[in-house]
Order: sequence, then structure tokens, then C-alpha cells
Amino acid sequence: MLNRETVLVLDFGSQYTQLIARRIRESRVYSEILPFNTPWQKIKEKRPAGLILSGGPSSVFEKDAPHPDPAIFNFEGPILGICYGMHLLVHHLGGEVQRADHQEYGKAMVGQSGSELFAGLPGEIQVWMSHGDRIAQLPPGFSKTASTPSAMAAMACPERRIFGLQFHPEVVHTPQGKEIIRNFLFRICGCRGDWTVSSFVDQAVTSIRDQVGPQSRVVCGLSGGVDSTVAAMLVDRAVGERLTCIFVDNGLLRKNEFRDVLKTFTENLHLNVIGVDASDRFLDQLQDVADPERKRKIIGTEFIRVFEEEARRLGDIRFLVQGTLYPDVIESVSVKGPSAVIKSHHNVGGLPEKMDLELVEPLRELFKDEVREVGRELGLSDGFVMRQPFPGPGLAVRIVSEITRERLRVLREADDIVHQEMKASGYYTKVWQSFAVLLPVKSVGVMGDGRTYENVVALRIVQSMDGMTADWVHLPYDLLARMSSRIVNEVRGVNRVVYDISSKPPSTIEWE
Ligand code: XMP
Repeated sequence: MLNRETVLVLDFGSQYTQLIARRIRESRVYSEILPFNTPWQKIKEKRPAGLILSGGPSSVFEKDAPHPDPAIFNFEGPILGICYGMHLLVHHLGGEVQRADHQEYGKAMVGQSGSELFAGLPGEIQVWMSHGDRIAQLPPGFSKTASTPSAMAAMACPERRIFGLQFHPEVVHTPQGKEIIRNFLFRICGCRGDWTVSSFVDQAVTSIRDQVGPQSRVVCGLSGGVDSTVAAMLVDRAVGERLTCIFVDNGLLRKNEFRDVLKTFTENLHLNVIGVDASDRFLDQLQDVADPERKRKIIGTEFIRVFEEEARRLGDIRFLVQGTLYPDVIESVSVKGPSAVIKSHHNVGGLPEKMDLELVEPLRELFKDEVREVGRELGLSDGFVMRQPFPGPGLAVRIVSEITRERLRVLREADDIVHQEMKASGYYTKVWQSFAVLLPVKSVGVMGDGRTYENVVALRIVQSMDGMTADWVHLPYDLLARMSSRIVNEVRGVNRVVYDISSKPPSTIEWE
């Protein structure tokens, strides 16, 4: 194992847990999030330089409240508890937490009275509070280091290097929160802050080698997206020829996508890839199917079949690479523990259970933009790393109602124009997704002297952080005008273009 500085975050279910890890990595210290009930032995093996106990929605005195392995309180390194994490420290170290008569949520000013955590900060700082419980009595050896007019805001036991914050330093509403986290990392944990994306790559390659061993073979399903590509590149670096990638054309990809991406994989990235054109199989199965969930199911099942056939041909394979990212793995409330649910969207069709393969998931601690960074580090072009997300079922969920080869042709052509114009205008990388949808309505139009009765295409262009919520983008009218006029003029079978001005919620990004 490489020696690197790691600060671990134990997740007690706060909606901000991911942000804590992220802030740590932004300070160039490696961080991982572990479920709250991770056994001490497992934590110790990671040799952390410090531990952070996240916030969470529970009260420490409730019956089902999540508690960590008590052995963590004997950790010889520094511990920082945030909100619920601070209450746990109080509760386990001999103090007392009570329900507060006066709850505090939102912006607050706290006065601090000196602590290593607040080094370099003014006496009064703005913070983001969120708590329903209060500390009635500090544990022995602790003192109060900050407070609001109505509550204790921070505590410390410098001798044992244990600290608690009642507010959230990880959110932007605590403007100096980054400084507080940096103080914890550098002053208190003694980190150097030399973790970089390239050290992540070295680390990932080493641990893939450890996991896969010297002989076993590995298979990876490539989707054409950034995540699976970066995961495959890491594994390729670790085990080389023993990795075989499979890229399936399900007949639902964008125009020229299969050809272009396969070329990138083989010629530029030198991955060992089998390209399987299974489009007829998928499209035959989808004939006369209008229901979106049935479409997804058929596509998922067929994908497994194709993948299994190819993998069987390869012979003895033990591992499957997946480009699972952190937000795919842990739902915001992961207090249920290690059995965190993987969103069905992202679980590549239940392959691992079906095929009895062990998973290799080198990106499972990272966020999307961090994966992009890793991709760049590995030599992936900017054009590739900035690709917009594309759903597994592809154009099937963008042809509302039944899919035919002719309707696929219409959508592909229209979508390609949207793609070209978004790229040419520089908007492609500024938005989350931009695409065309083919509606199941025909409308009357006029072309030359004749009346037409043709298809309607909707443009869907949204901004989003993670796909969970989204806003439609206020694109310049001349760009919309260009897309509309090109689609109507160049795509046979379309005589009307509309712009979707709905946000998510209550709408969704895809139409199906
Ligand atoms: P919705 O339509 O639910 O989409 O607002 C949110 C994000 O998820 C993508 N999406 C999918 N991705 N399989 C996928 O791999 C799917 O079945 C699927 N459905 C939606 C969508 O493109 C958006 O980014």
C-alpha cells in the first residue's frame, strides 16, 4: 500500500456528508466516507491522520440512533465531531445532550474564544447552524470555545485532540468554514496537503493490482460515458492485457456514436475492446413497446444477455469493472449502513449478481468533476471528459411512445443538429444536458405550396448539479432559432420544434 494521508469521515446521515469529504480533498488531503458502523479494525487499517464524525438527523438519546464502534473514541489521532457528531462525542465521553427548548436553524453569528480550530479567524464568525439538541454538560476535560447568544457552538479538549462544532463548516453558508477545516487538517492532524489527482491514480492502480492479483482476468462494460471510460483506463493501467472491455451498440445511441467512440477507445486510448453490434436484437425486442419502464427493462435484460454471451466467449473471468461514483453508491441518508442502495438507473442491469463476478469500482469515492480530473490526468481529451451524461436506455426514452427505425432516424438527425449547435455556440459544456425529444404527436405545417402533417421535436436543455433537480436553460433566442430552423429544414419528417421550459421538479429531465 502507498502511504498517503487520509482523513476519514464517518457518515451519520447528514445531507452534507459528501461535502465534508469534498472540502478535505479540495485541501489536497485524501478523504473517504465510511458508514457510521464501520468496525474499528477496518478504520484502523486505513491508517487515518484524523477522523470526522458527520452530522445527522437523529438525537443521540433516541432508541435507534446510530452510534459508531465505541473503540473509535480511543483513537490516538484527532477527532472532529460536527453537529450530531459533536453530540456523540459528548454522549460517549461523559457529558450530556438534551433536547433544546430553542432550536436553531440557518444563519447565525458565533463568538469564538480561541481554539486551534479557529486560528486566524476573527472573534465573531458567520456560520450555518442546524440543531434541535443542546449540550447540557460538557465531558470532563472539555471547554467551550464558541457560542451563539442561545447555545454552545464549539468545544475542544486540546490534550486529547478532540473537537466539536455545533455548526456546519462544510457548507458555503459558513464563509470561513474552509479555514476551519484546513485548521483541522493542517494544524491539528498535521497533514501535508500533497494529495493530488496523480497520487489518486497511483493509489487506485496499486489497489486494483492488490484486489485483482497477478493472474485473474477482468471485464468492463463501456457505455461511451466518462465514468466507465475512466474506470477502464485505470484498470488498464493496473492489469493491461488482462482487461477486456465490451462496448455494445444497442441501436439507441446517438448518430455515429458507436463508430466514433469505438475508434477513440481503440486508436487513442489503446484499450482492449470488443465492439458488439447488437442493435437489431434490441430494436426487435422493443417493437410495439410504448411503456417507458418496460422499455428500460427490455434494454437492461438484453444488455445482460449480450454481455454474458461475450464474457462467456472470453472464458475464465473473475472481476467486473464498474464506473460507479460516490453519489451512485450512497444515498444521502446512508445511516442504514453498508447495504446502501444503488440507484437502479446506475446499476448496470444487475450484472454482478447474475454473473457471480467480483466488482472493481475504482471511482466509488469520487464526484463527477473529480472523475473528469482523473480522466484528464490519464490523458483523456477535454472533449471526451466534458461529455454530457447520456442515459443507459439512450434514445429509447427520448422517443415518446413506440420506437421504430424511422423514428430513430428522425430523432438522431434532430439530436445531431442540437449537438452541433450547442458545441459551436460554446453552450455544450455550460449545461448539464442538451438533447432533442421526438413527440408522439403530428402537427400541421406548410412547406412551399403544400400542407404537411409531420412530427414535433422538443428541445430539452437543462442546467443541474447532479441530475436530481434541474432548471431549463435560458438560451439566447438566436441559438434556439438556428436549431429550430435547421431541424425543420434538414430533417425529413419534422415540421415543428418546441422548447421545453419545465424545471425538475415537478418535471423530469427525460420525457420518459
Ligand atoms: P430524470 O429524467 O429522472 O433524469 O430527471 C435524471 C438524470 O438521469 C438520467 N437518466 C438515466 N440514466 N438510465 C440511466 O443511465 C436511465 O434509465 C435513466 N433515466 C434518466 C437522465 O439523463 C438525467 O441525467
